[in-house]
Amino acid sequence: MNGSAAKKGSRNILEKMDESGKNCVIFYGSQTGTAEDYASRLAKEGSSRFGLKTMTADLEDYDYENLDQFPEDKIAFFVMATYGEGEPTDNAVEFWEFMNAEPPSFSESSEDKPLQNLRYVAFGLGNNTYEHYNSMVRNLDKILTGLGGKRIGTAGEGDDGAGTMEEDFLAWKEPMWTALAEDMGLEEREAVYEPVFSVDERDDLSPEDDTVYLGEPNKNHLEGTQKGPFNAHNPYIAPIAESRELFTVKDRNCLHVEIDVSNSNISYTTGDHIAVWPTNAGMEVDRFVKVFGLEEKRDRVISMKGLDPTAKVPFPTPTTYDTAIRYHMEICAPVSRQFISTLAAFAPNEDAKKEMTRLGSDPDYFKEKIASQYMNISQACASVSSEPWSAVPFSCLVETINKLQPRYYSISSSSAVQPKKISVTAVVESIRIPGAGHVVKGVTTNYLLALKQKQNGDPSPSPHGLTYNITGPRNKYDGFHVPVHVRHSNFKLPSDPSKPIIMVGPGTGVAPFRGFVQERAAAAKKGENVGKTVLFYGCRRRSEDWLYKDEWDHFQEALGDNLVIFNAFSRDQEKKVYVQHLLKENGTLVNELLQKKANFYVCGDAAHMAREVNDVLGQIIAKERGVDEKKAEQTVKSMRSSGVYQEDVWS
Ligand code: 2AM
Repeated sequence: MNGSAAKKGSRNILEKMDESGKNCVIFYGSQTGTAEDYASRLAKEGSSRFGLKTMTADLEDYDYENLDQFPEDKIAFFVMATYGEGEPTDNAVEFWEFMNAEPPSFSESSEDKPLQNLRYVAFGLGNNTYEHYNSMVRNLDKILTGLGGKRIGTAGEGDDGAGTMEEDFLAWKEPMWTALAEDMGLEEREAVYEPVFSVDERDDLSPEDDTVYLGEPNKNHLEGTQKGPFNAHNPYIAPIAESRELFTVKDRNCLHVEIDVSNSNISYTTGDHIAVWPTNAGMEVDRFVKVFGLEEKRDRVISMKGLDPTAKVPFPTPTTYDTAIRYHMEICAPVSRQFISTLAAFAPNEDAKKEMTRLGSDPDYFKEKIASQYMNISQACASVSSEPWSAVPFSCLVETINKLQPRYYSISSSSAVQPKKISVTAVVESIRIPGAGHVVKGVTTNYLLALKQKQNGDPSPSPHGLTYNITGPRNKYDGFHVPVHVRHSNFKLPSDPSKPIIMVGPGTGVAPFRGFVQERAAAAKKGENVGKTVLFYGCRRRSEDWLYKDEWDHFQEALGDNLVIFNAFSRDQEKKVYVQHLLKENGTLVNELLQKKANFYVCGDAAHMAREVNDVLGQIIAKERGVDEKKAEQTVKSMRSSGVYQEDVWS
């Protein structure tokens, strides 16, 4: 049911391109799906504006020995996300190992410059709050050029940290297309929408038919059986054992969720991440079908097919419009300027067309009207015209809107203490936009909140409007469930519990540290020798959002003086107090522990907190060790590269 064309076929990319008549392949190294989405957009644009015969390719689906035979009249794109500390994304690991061998073992060419026929285009997705900003695209570009490859255009770099990814991409791709058109002798034509998928309404089928997919996470679930291994292609439908509120204030929510994996072979280790697969909010699905004129036929059965053999429909069909939208399309994400441009051609009237064209071509105007209010696609279209946008082909919506992706959370339990029950600590995101009439809601955390409210029989459930719980009307499960899988991380306790550790985690950044402390408390109870365990925690007020307030006392009983917690209650006094202020105040202790080989961990906000903590640590080292700031910075850097300083941060 997961229709990956490449998996079934050959791993030979040249053969694949020949068979399907392609002259442009867009490889992607993607972790959370963004690079994959950019790859699809480039493929669409290449074919509609320049008549290229494009295909996208998951890097893990092909072999690379024959890149030295890549024909001169074809072009390869590489859209590469950099993950964590400069690592390749999971799907790019093998490709990366191959390219980094010295020399890579190409099948035919033994020359110095085996890739002299290869022409390529490169774009990277990174985050400038990480030290190894966009290192994948930078290094790949160096390797390819070194092997004789010829890059067309510049190697683009998108920055998620500065929040400019989309504009960076748009600014990079125009000159790239010009250079590519010149190099390959392509003629630009007026972009016409060319569907990648066909959509057929199936009057012969009804949603009650067993063959119609209604959102079951995979074929086994549809048949009422679950089979491992459970991973990013096959989530486990886990019962929610418990879900409770951690904040004491009414206007904000933070959930503690216990996910039961006892009937699966899922395992995790303390510090790993859990992926939660969301469902779109009912009210957002309603808005979407209304705006695009699909309200009447939302439950009609459709079949979709790729119009060429390399195009894969991103969900099983036959299905219904409603199912595809609810479970597979990222309809709540902020809309891109490029998408607005694409939709101009299908606007319901001339004024709307003009307005969409202006929004699509004027970045400032787009920012003022759409982006500053974080409008999603249906809100943006509705703000331009209240008439239904029924001329927009459904295939265009499926092709252009990103795939709904699982979200990753730092696990907040210890695998030594509760190997089969995974804890999640998540703030429910609801952001009121000043000047706009709406609240922007996080898809997954609000989904978890709605599940909790239903599960607990809350009399005033969230307006999230959760219609189905996981498996649609054919739900074969009792109780409340959520699809999950585990992703292993390098954020790990030292294997020797007697080693000291320092943890910095304000807000939900404390999640993995609850797991760390839980693990060390259990070790101490067993009589093991546990080292100093120091936590710097921060929240707004002790009476409002102090996470796991009572649990720390229990851990203290087990660990005694070896557990030291510094709390920064930022709003309990006139002047703000943050974790980094307390870190600085306790610089002598911090330095002493570092000299006793303590590991140093930071979890939480990447943009501000983690940077400031990094800088403060440098200042502490400079002061306590009497070295200049440059030298101290160097010390912090080498702590990072040797794995003493570990981060689990997000923006
Ligand atoms: P504030 O909201 O009162 O400014 C968890 O969100 C805690 O992190 C809150 O107490 C919050 O304080 C605090 N916080 C906000 N910005 C921070 C920063 N740059 N560094 C450290 N903590 C910060």
